[in-house]
Amino acid sequence: MAGEGPSRPRVVLGVGAGIAAYKACELLRLFTESGHEVRVVPTRDALRFVGEPTWAALSGSPVTSEVWESVHEVPHVRIGQAADLVVVAPATADILAKAAHGLAGDLLTNTLLTARCPVVLAPAMHTEMWEHPATRANVATLRERGTLVIDPAVGRLTGADTGPGRLPDPREIFEVCRGVLAGRPRDLAGRHVVVSAGGTREAIDPVRYIGNRSSGLQGYALARTAVARGARVTLVAANVALPDPAGAAVVRVESAAELRTAVLEAAERADAVVMAAAVADFRPIAASDSKIKKTSGEPEPIRLAKNPDILAELCDRRREGRKPSPEVIAGFAAETDDVLANGRAKLERKGCDLLVVNQVGGGLAFGTPDNAAVILAAGGEAVEVPRGPKEELADTLWGLVAARLF
Ligand code: CTP
Repeated sequence: MAGEGPSRPRVVLGVGAGIAAYKACELLRLFTESGHEVRVVPTRDALRFVGEPTWAALSGSPVTSEVWESVHEVPHVRIGQAADLVVVAPATADILAKAAHGLAGDLLTNTLLTARCPVVLAPAMHTEMWEHPATRANVATLRERGTLVIDPAVGRLTGADTGPGRLPDPREIFEVCRGVLAGRPRDLAGRHVVVSAGGTREAIDPVRYIGNRSSGLQGYALARTAVARGARVTLVAANVALPDPAGAAVVRVESAAELRTAVLEAAERADAVVMAAAVADFRPIAASDSKIKKTSGEPEPIRLAKNPDILAELCDRRREGRKPSPEVIAGFAAETDDVLANGRAKLERKGCDLLVVNQVGGGLAFGTPDNAAVILAAGGEAVEVPRGPKEELADTLWGLVAARLF
């Protein structure tokens, strides 16, 4: 049975006939270099883009597209049965259609039918094909059955055109797969969550701003883990220099005002909102249109105005009964002193359901891959999350969010 004993996790990497097949080489390397045993199953036409020797050399395993080779080993059944994970990247419109309808004309589609392990599909195709009602229906069918279909990224496609349809960054597809292999629950399937990440910038003039030290790592970990738990994710990113998490729709913003507009808009269609962004509390009252020169005499003091509290506003709107409002609203609080007392007071003041309170300093929080926190709940519950990767904190938070969704 798959996954028993100390053996390496067995991954089937299906490759469809799309130009993004070359990116699957990097995905393959990420798996093999982190101790996974990978069997590559390209479709016949995928081999037009990347040939069999490349897959065989990189995986160290035989590569075939057909069910008629090594028939004595019954590969059309055995490969799927033995897998701990099947991931198809890129998954073409054709593969989605075949998978949705249970066709089994080659080794990859047979493998998809015989696999009892989690299946992750990373579609990549032209926007028109992705948006076609036939593809939409196939994706909906597959998701209903429990297949994790990662929304493609938006950006430059094969030709001069741009739009949704790009294969996400292989490192990000790998992270989703790792989460699935680690047994992440699918408790956010069918849910839409909004995550804000990064730190806002408030313009002083066209070249200067008031900012903060947030890297966006925690918010991106939240988005990534939510995708792996099956959610549709809108990630509102303020000034983050990280690759887009696979499957998340990324809205880029700069200032607190822009972040507010993007979050409030997305929140209307969301089941849960997590405000992980570090939002500037103040902004210069008037940003100068031209660069402030040092030759213009003594500097003027920068006068500040208060920014709206977006988290409190979301909670107020919900309390006032505005519909639609997210069912669960969570915030973060970075504190330096009296961490728990300040956190509890902040939770009550803002009116959110959950507040992740972390102590800043001591090498934690800003710009580090690790975090440690206490998650406070409106009912009085407190969950301590020991120091560990930001994904772990994210997973604990999503568990608490999912438990509060009807
Ligand atoms: N937040 C927000 N809008 C703001 C400021 C903060 O939505 N203008 C959100 C943050 O995203 C975070 C939470 O509120 O989820 C707490 O942020 P924090 O800066 O710790 O709280 P403040 O209310 O600004 O309190 P403090 O006086 O400690 O700065």
